[in-house]
Amino acid sequence: MEKKFARTLVTTALPYANGPVHIGHLAGVYVPADIYVRYLRLKGEEVLLIGGSDEHGVPVTIRAKKEGCTPQDVVDRYHSLIKQSFADFGISFDVYSRTTSETHHQLASDFFRKLYDEGKFVEMESEQFYDEEAKQFLSDRNIVGECPRCHADGAYGDQCEKCGSTLSPDELINPKNALTGNRLVKRPTSHWYLPLNDYQQWLEKWILEGHKEWRSNVYGQCKSWLDAGLRPRAVTRDLEWGIPVPVEGAEGKVLYVWFDAPIGYISNTKELLPNDWEKWWKDESTRLIHFIGKDNIVFHCIVFPTMLKAEGSYILPDNVPSNEFLNLEGDKISTSRNWAVWLHEYLKDFPGKQDVLRYVLTANAPETKDNDFTWKDFQARNNSELVAIYGNFVNRALQLTKKYFNGIVPEVGDLTDYDRETLKEFAGVKEEVEKLLNNFKFRDAQKEAMNLARIGNKYLADTEPWKLAKTDMARVSTILNMALQLVANLAIAFEPFLPFSSKKLREMLNLSNFDWANLGRTDLLSVGHVLGEPQLLFEKIEDSEIDAQMARLERIKKENEVNSFTPEPVSPTVAFDDFTKIDIRVGKVLECEKVPKADKLLKFKIDDGMGGRTIVSGIAKYYKPEDLVGKEVCFIANFEPRKLKGVESQGMILSAENADGSLVVIGPQGAVKPGCKVG
Ligand code: 2FM
Ligand code: ZN
Repeated sequence: MEKKFARTLVTTALPYANGPVHIGHLAGVYVPADIYVRYLRLKGEEVLLIGGSDEHGVPVTIRAKKEGCTPQDVVDRYHSLIKQSFADFGISFDVYSRTTSETHHQLASDFFRKLYDEGKFVEMESEQFYDEEAKQFLSDRNIVGECPRCHADGAYGDQCEKCGSTLSPDELINPKNALTGNRLVKRPTSHWYLPLNDYQQWLEKWILEGHKEWRSNVYGQCKSWLDAGLRPRAVTRDLEWGIPVPVEGAEGKVLYVWFDAPIGYISNTKELLPNDWEKWWKDESTRLIHFIGKDNIVFHCIVFPTMLKAEGSYILPDNVPSNEFLNLEGDKISTSRNWAVWLHEYLKDFPGKQDVLRYVLTANAPETKDNDFTWKDFQARNNSELVAIYGNFVNRALQLTKKYFNGIVPEVGDLTDYDRETLKEFAGVKEEVEKLLNNFKFRDAQKEAMNLARIGNKYLADTEPWKLAKTDMARVSTILNMALQLVANLAIAFEPFLPFSSKKLREMLNLSNFDWANLGRTDLLSVGHVLGEPQLLFEKIEDSEIDAQMARLERIKKENEVNSFTPEPVSPTVAFDDFTKIDIRVGKVLECEKVPKADKLLKFKIDDGMGGRTIVSGIAKYYKPEDLVGKEVCFIANFEPRKLKGVESQGMILSAENADGSLVVIGPQGAVKPGCKVG
């Protein structure tokens, strides 16, 4: 028997406030959560959407050190930016707060203290890396060294970004402080651990037996953690930034960020409803749902529930719909490599087009496997689905009503078989969309809503009321009434997915309110109802706009190549005598031109101080011929002459290959007479 709940509490992973939010965040967590709560609200259910910024943790401190400001400065800046981005995209939070708030510090501290007082933690000592000069223990991310696997320098204490291996600081060769380069020593330190192992059996029963309905990616990850056997997890850290451990003698220690962050869901609810929050967190008739990304599964399905269970007075999540990852143009989204579409930048480039992004991200939602966002697909879905199907249908229905009936809903007469067939087709949509939404299948649910628009579009295309207007106005009246009812249904069906367009559509229909229960009805607009002014719901996106986005990504790719450049290993040693066999001279470019039918080649006439010579060089991709005339270059003067595309080349112009593969001509830095030797 399915349990009947009185209310639903929806939480969304708290993003780290150490950078802006991007399309991956939106697709993975915030759009699906927003669709879900908008749907429940439309159904008239009691629901809350809780969000906030995760402001503790080591990455914030690293960013602050790099920028020469305080961690508080960093989180203040990004919290505002993130909050604004979510508001701009219509993520309808009931509260969006932060983990540096007073309420949160108090609640997280009390939560820890209660478990501490009740003996729910175990205290253990371990050896950790310590910087004697900075007088501090270092977190894994703050330690760098040589990777034991690929031997690249600069591997972090938790991961080598060169070869992708997961590491522990102990494995690094020559571990150092990442910021100062100081050598490190090992020192004993004591921490509090949550003994997950003591909860193993309870978790196995609760998840593996009790929640078989969870998405297979979530269930599978939990199962493999449980199968591997749980171990105690430290819930405190030696760090200055965070919530101080509320225990005497624990100076210099803070709560581990993953201990305090999920408690943030509770604190933010308390901030919203200071007198009523407990009903949402402690009453068994509340259904708790966590929307998260796949890297957060273990914390939300195993660690946080164990914390709640150990505390004893809280409810547990009923479901944890976690998405996989969204890639960008085939590559993993990465904040540090700037490989992302940032929400605040998107809105500058595509103002007012929030729903387009929401639509595309839901259509490609990484619900069961990683998925890819591409700008071409973004354009295609906008132009051939939103504009050509949904927008086109709405626009036709409203414009025709304006033209033939002055914008007033016309009467409905006898229905034809085709009308009845059309009605039958969309009668089932409500049930179908509902079933999908209830099962967190947002991608398919949106597809169904789009089908409704397809039915409407086809109906008008097939019945062609603009042709009948000359002969049969009664029929036109019926067709347009039907079409308008379908349009009103679309405004409801799309409200959870595309709230901005639904609002616009509601204004065009002059509909003040509606609810989900009305979906599927064919009398949403009564005869004689006066419609508002028609406007375009969506606009075509031009190739030039997509080209600009692709060019930006191309630029970023180049920058990343340059930044991650490591010089080639040096070639085997050669004797000095061998080196002097190569005769390098300075020359001045007298003439330079492209070699016909050869994309890469330039032909140079060089003043070599010895009567001149011709050299052909493969650098045409990187220089305009006229830019090199008059320049001094270095060339090898004693190469055997050879023919290139029919032109005899008497030497070789020296150039350096840059990190991105481009070539740069090498020349003297001061005035040198043509013909002088280089060595
Ligand atoms: O992965 C992240 O971005 C974390 N800041 C999510 C925290 S979720 C919750 F526990 F607050
Ligand atoms: Zn490595």
